[in-house]
Amino acid sequence: MDNKRQISGFSKLSKTAKLKWLAENFFNNPEEVVKELKNYWFQDQEQQKVFDNFSENTLTNYILPYGVVPNVLINGKTYCVPMVTEESSVVAAAAAAAKYWMTRGGVKAEVVETLKTGQVHFKWFGDNEKIKQFFPKIRIALIEGTRELTANMEARGGGIKSIELRDFTDQEPNYYQIFAKFETCNSMGANFINSILEQFGISLQEYIKQAEQFCGIEKELDVIMCILSNYTPECLVKATVQCNIDALLDSALDYDAGQLAERFYLAVKMAEIDSYRATTHNKGIFNGIDAVVIATGNDFRAVEADGHTYAARNGHYSSLTKANIENDVFSLTLEIPISIGTVGGLTNLHPMARKSLELLGNPNAHELMQIIAATGLLQNFSAVRSLVTTGIQQGHMKMHLMNILNHLGATQKEITLAMNHFINNKVSFTSVRSFLSLLRDEGAKITANS
Ligand code: MEV
Repeated sequence: MDNKRQISGFSKLSKTAKLKWLAENFFNNPEEVVKELKNYWFQDQEQQKVFDNFSENTLTNYILPYGVVPNVLINGKTYCVPMVTEESSVVAAAAAAAKYWMTRGGVKAEVVETLKTGQVHFKWFGDNEKIKQFFPKIRIALIEGTRELTANMEARGGGIKSIELRDFTDQEPNYYQIFAKFETCNSMGANFINSILEQFGISLQEYIKQAEQFCGIEKELDVIMCILSNYTPECLVKATVQCNIDALLDSALDYDAGQLAERFYLAVKMAEIDSYRATTHNKGIFNGIDAVVIATGNDFRAVEADGHTYAARNGHYSSLTKANIENDVFSLTLEIPISIGTVGGLTNLHPMARKSLELLGNPNAHELMQIIAATGLLQNFSAVRSLVTTGIQQGHMKMHLMNILNHLGATQKEITLAMNHFINNKVSFTSVRSFLSLLRDEGAKITANS
């Protein structure tokens, strides 16, 4: 038994005691480790407390780069979009696409719908037709039971939009759902929806117990769980770029505009057909989407899960973007459910999320959905354009060069020389290592001879 590495009551220890225990039991140099982890604490203790409270057992902060993409033209308005990502070429690629489309009309984006969904999963042991027959009355009881919870949201124009009974008894005996739709205005609405669903569960049980129409086994209703669904196909946004094929011409590339449009169209078609390709294609879209979602303090796991389910909505995992060529016009459209908020959650608590929203002009949730979708679309455009022309490694490795140089402990002088050398030479880990060895050998020779 590995006793030293097991502990009970860890969450109750002070932060310092937690750090000490961790450092002593998992590292060979405990004092240094404690010092290093503390290095990432905020100087300002109040600020650090905010972060400590986000999650349990917080020991330190994990830092990621925060960058911006200027020139993002959406519906005629220019944004400078914040992105949090560790991947070398993501911001550069989005920035290149933003600039490219800025002179070609920008992105047109529209929110199609904004409904969120939630479910109460339960078992009922009576006659199937009977619960359906009484459901209109049950619905009224459910709405009555949540009056207090919905009052504020209703005052803002949101609330419960529909409640229906779904019957799954053909797949699992006695399994039903209350399937509800919600409008949550500028909040993502997870807490609002989950509180209502839990109340639905209580009201449902009470109704069935009290109603004289039900007797015997019909009084037995087992609520299994009450939870929102992160699949929100009716909280949908669309973003499109389009231009005349001729306008796609780029003198830096070896293809004419027609070839470029055709190759692009085919690449997207391939992602529609093949799920292996679609997964990578969509990952590229989420490179952009997640980075903005994180920068604005939203839940990227929820947005990812939502988008991937939508990509498989027709029973086959497919591309989230579609390309089209018609009457000499090329277009690329992203259609994706995005459930985010601009109030509540981390959006107001995380200081950088607040800054991001300020940078974006304090958008409402509709506008932020459009900004996020536009960034995903631009990211996809950049990735596919590189893939069908130069390949992505050229740009990617150029951006990754600095990481390799840092990894190999290059000095400032070596970095400058390497940056120059690799303008016209292929970057790979081996080529950079060889270049540095050569430099270092030459340096050693000069020192020996002097
Ligand atoms: C890399 O992070 C993303 C790409 O693979 C996306 C794509 O293949 O479309 C370049």
